[in-house]
Amino acid sequence: MKTLLTKKGWNQNDIIQDGNSFLVANGHLGYRGTLEEYGADQLVGLNLGGVYDRSGNQWREPIVMPNPFLLLVEADGKPIQVFKEKARHHEISLTDDGVFHRRTEFKDIMIESERTASHADDRLVLERFRLIAKKRLAITVLMGMDPEIAELAGPHFKSAEYSIQDNRIRFAGETNEGKKLFESAVYECAENLESVGKTRLKLSKIVEKGEILTISVTSLISETEPFDPVANRFEESLQASRLAFEKKLAAADIGLRGDAAAEADLRYSIYQSLILGDRERTRCISGRGLSGQTYKGAVFWDTEIFLLPFFTLVDPRVARNLILYRVKTLSGAMAKAEGLGYKGAFYAWESQDDGSEQCSKYNVTDPETGEPVRTYFGEKQIHISADIPYAIEKYIEQTGDKSILDEGAREVIEECARFFMSRAELGEDGLYHLNDVIGPDEYHEGVDDNAFTAYMAEETLRFALNRTNDEDLRQEIARYLDHWYLPKPNADGVIEQFKGYFAKKDSTIEELRSSLHHPNEYWGGENGVATPTKIIKQADVIALMALLPHRFSIETQMANYEYYAPQTEHGSSLSDSMYAIVGARIGKTKEAYEHFRKTASIDIRGASKQFAGGVYIGGTHPAANAGTVLAVTQGFLGLQMHGGEITVDPKIPKQIKSIRLRYVAGNSIKEATIDRDGIKTIKEVAHD
Ligand code: BGC
Repeated sequence: MKTLLTKKGWNQNDIIQDGNSFLVANGHLGYRGTLEEYGADQLVGLNLGGVYDRSGNQWREPIVMPNPFLLLVEADGKPIQVFKEKARHHEISLTDDGVFHRRTEFKDIMIESERTASHADDRLVLERFRLIAKKRLAITVLMGMDPEIAELAGPHFKSAEYSIQDNRIRFAGETNEGKKLFESAVYECAENLESVGKTRLKLSKIVEKGEILTISVTSLISETEPFDPVANRFEESLQASRLAFEKKLAAADIGLRGDAAAEADLRYSIYQSLILGDRERTRCISGRGLSGQTYKGAVFWDTEIFLLPFFTLVDPRVARNLILYRVKTLSGAMAKAEGLGYKGAFYAWESQDDGSEQCSKYNVTDPETGEPVRTYFGEKQIHISADIPYAIEKYIEQTGDKSILDEGAREVIEECARFFMSRAELGEDGLYHLNDVIGPDEYHEGVDDNAFTAYMAEETLRFALNRTNDEDLRQEIARYLDHWYLPKPNADGVIEQFKGYFAKKDSTIEELRSSLHHPNEYWGGENGVATPTKIIKQADVIALMALLPHRFSIETQMANYEYYAPQTEHGSSLSDSMYAIVGARIGKTKEAYEHFRKTASIDIRGASKQFAGGVYIGGTHPAANAGTVLAVTQGFLGLQMHGGEITVDPKIPKQIKSIRLRYVAGNSIKEATIDRDGIKTIKEVAHD
């Protein structure tokens, strides 16, 4: 067992970030990296993925379940909590078996705990709490479920009933939308536990010096009917979870020889990505994973462009489920297109369980006035309907698994193509244009001929042409493809991000930052400081080149990289990995390495935006974490995979001697060692 991340010392200001950095999760449930004495104010959260609810006329968002791990200790009548007494030593860590650990030494007591969201049974969260007395003390521990739930747009339970019996606390709740949810926690301890009200158990004992009290909590969350976790199985459940996670990690174990610090950040990013994968359900991964309710727990293009390629490499069953989620939500996408007067499927920019658009018209607020700011992400960020077919085709190319087409993926591709044809406008030049769109750079809204969108949509048409069995559709697509407008490189080799971009004002990121009235002001939209300028939020033309390398020569990629790098704020955590990929490909390995380190450490150091135009956007960054792996595979290794067979074109930064890559090919896990000259060895390390 190795440590992935450790933090020593306790700081009040780090509570929220630690909650993100030290998250445990199993694709279904997430438990934030908080302490047992924390409550709703410290954003304790047992986050349930995939179940959403709307309270009043607020945003619809995912559910947070009651916290079963509240443990409040008193010794000789004094509370033993990090808030109340300065700890002599405090340390939290995550280990590569998916377990969170805490060790806090107070004057008279030592507290140790470990916790995980089970990888063997994804309905379970587990916690073991140990208290070691340093002298004779009268101890009381009040433990139980905390009915106070931290919610951004709640409350979500219109009814919440608690009951207590034989060291078990049970919760039965019904959400505003009528969904019944259940939680049952068993508290196990060698001592007698006394019931206090309906949500607490109390342990009272005189302990001698050196005596250890151990409390184990197993909590089971159910979406169907009340279930109790089996008693006396804590140790067994913890071991089963450890083994299951170690197995998942074994297939994703990538090493960077020669650079221990970068390797540690990479392994942490792999952890943060892996804990979001769900092999069983066709649920998707939300923009902030299982760290909380930010972004309404909605699914963005982040999934297809960052997480899907990661899982395709290390756990294709999860990748398959991510595709099936888009199959499941196709009807929502078709309804959205129809509502806007188009054919086919226009996927939700922010998607939840049924695929309907959840992106509100006012996605940010003015931090000074509190007034909502009109944004058009949901209506205009149409590239989402190209990102999904792209990811499906990549999955098929890499795994060779065409069966997904007959499970609905073919229809997804066809309907996305239909959407783009109906959305395109025939210009005076006789070509089809996609006008009034938003590209990945969200600061410039309602632009014509965004290069990213035009190329990616054209790829969708090609995919559909190749995959469809419908002759009429094929002919229609062929006609559109013959007249599809694609922005081409200018005399300097640079592709204009959108029509009119080159005429925008020159500026710098520093200049814009210093012109802000409020640090959290939104840079884009109608009145944003970036709108009249060439400054862009995130990789846009560079993202296009990262995704479609075969369509642009190395010289063109180089010219665009040089041109757009100084204009890019990297105001989205999705940006750095794109620059790392293209940077490495064109031989700028020093810069690629810097972007890689930045994307790899985002949830370690918490150096990300916490607010966008007054709206809280904190949490973990799954796309940046999965993007870390892509920076290594697609960037440093130049990795391509066809039906489980790999080829490389390494551009490895000087800090790294060689890269050990693990990946899934068919039924086996393979390991390749690659250095600057290419693949040195490939061997099978495990068989599924
Ligand atoms: C980015 C989008 C991204 C979303 C969710 C936004 O800030 O601009 O590209 O999909 O966050 O991560």
